[in-house]
Amino acid sequence: MAGDYNPASPACETAVVHSAYPATRPRRLRAAAFSRELSRETRLAAGQLIQPLFVAEGDLRGPITSMPGQVRRNLDELVAECRELAALGISAVAMFPVIPPALKNEFGSESLNPDGLIPRAIARVKEACPGLGVIVDIALDPYTSHGHDGILDEAGYVANDITLEALRKQAVVLARAGADVLAPSDMMDGRVGAIRSVLERDMRHNTMILSYAAKYASAFYGPFRDAVGTATALKGDKRTYQMDPANSDEALREVGLDIAEGADIVMVKPGMPYLDIIRRIKDEFGVPVAAYQVSGEYAMLKAAAQNGWLDEKKVVMESLLCFRRAGADMVLSYFSKQAAQWLKDA
Ligand code: PBG
Repeated sequence: MAGDYNPASPACETAVVHSAYPATRPRRLRAAAFSRELSRETRLAAGQLIQPLFVAEGDLRGPITSMPGQVRRNLDELVAECRELAALGISAVAMFPVIPPALKNEFGSESLNPDGLIPRAIARVKEACPGLGVIVDIALDPYTSHGHDGILDEAGYVANDITLEALRKQAVVLARAGADVLAPSDMMDGRVGAIRSVLERDMRHNTMILSYAAKYASAFYGPFRDAVGTATALKGDKRTYQMDPANSDEALREVGLDIAEGADIVMVKPGMPYLDIIRRIKDEFGVPVAAYQVSGEYAMLKAAAQNGWLDEKKVVMESLLCFRRAGADMVLSYFSKQAAQWLKDA
């Protein structure tokens, strides 16, 4: 009877002795810190982290309401931040521009300006922190009046091949400005091949391409669109070019194409709801894989932490480690700087 149960009683001990002991006890390795450390399968280091940064000028600089702790920095502030990131051991930054509405048009032509905000930002950061990798988006959305990543035809459809011509030019402008890594985030068909061919022609054999290979049409990008000012501009959604969250085989197809076209690193975006995609890609292709813990994921964790509902440090470090376990070699996260600080203090 349950009421008679007393583990210390001789009768009960006999009962335990006669039950089958487990020979394999996974808990043995978990019992002490040293054996947990020795048997740990995955680790997270600052060098595997990439910090996304927003660049703005004049009145457009300042805090981002839907991403507490993240700011739009002017070039001086950007350089100061990059120095700190490099000192913390962060490997690279990914820079996103906030373009004044007056410079936007339906073709996103400001994206081709060699003296534009991002080319100047690249030059400043590479001058101040030559060892810090500089990654820049190849996409038109910060520059278009309609907020789409490409050029629209008369029907309002994002026209693939016309957009490719703009992306090729943008790629050359940013590579010449000194970007180490170009990150096409537009999801046009054939963009990696188009960009790779212009880079080769420009004798930029070592400019890397980190393709947003499996980029989903996700609602988790909301705060990013607030940050760069495309949320109000965007007409409709991006489902005719970004992937359907229901699809997984299609991600492998996209990745296969991007690798064949000359991508060096493939990315999955968003992050946490898509860990299965990261694992499939890593298993299938064995190439360097990046995960992007996007703005909405940052906002969720931050909001819960600010309310005292989650322990910020613990959930952030757990989430970043889980990207590594899922198969990501590197992680883009708005928490990268904070995580690097925590790793240093540990
Ligand atoms: C733009 C771009 C987006 C993000 C990175 N590059 C937004 C979008 O596709 O609408 C999202 C990043 C984030 O949410 O943190 N091509």
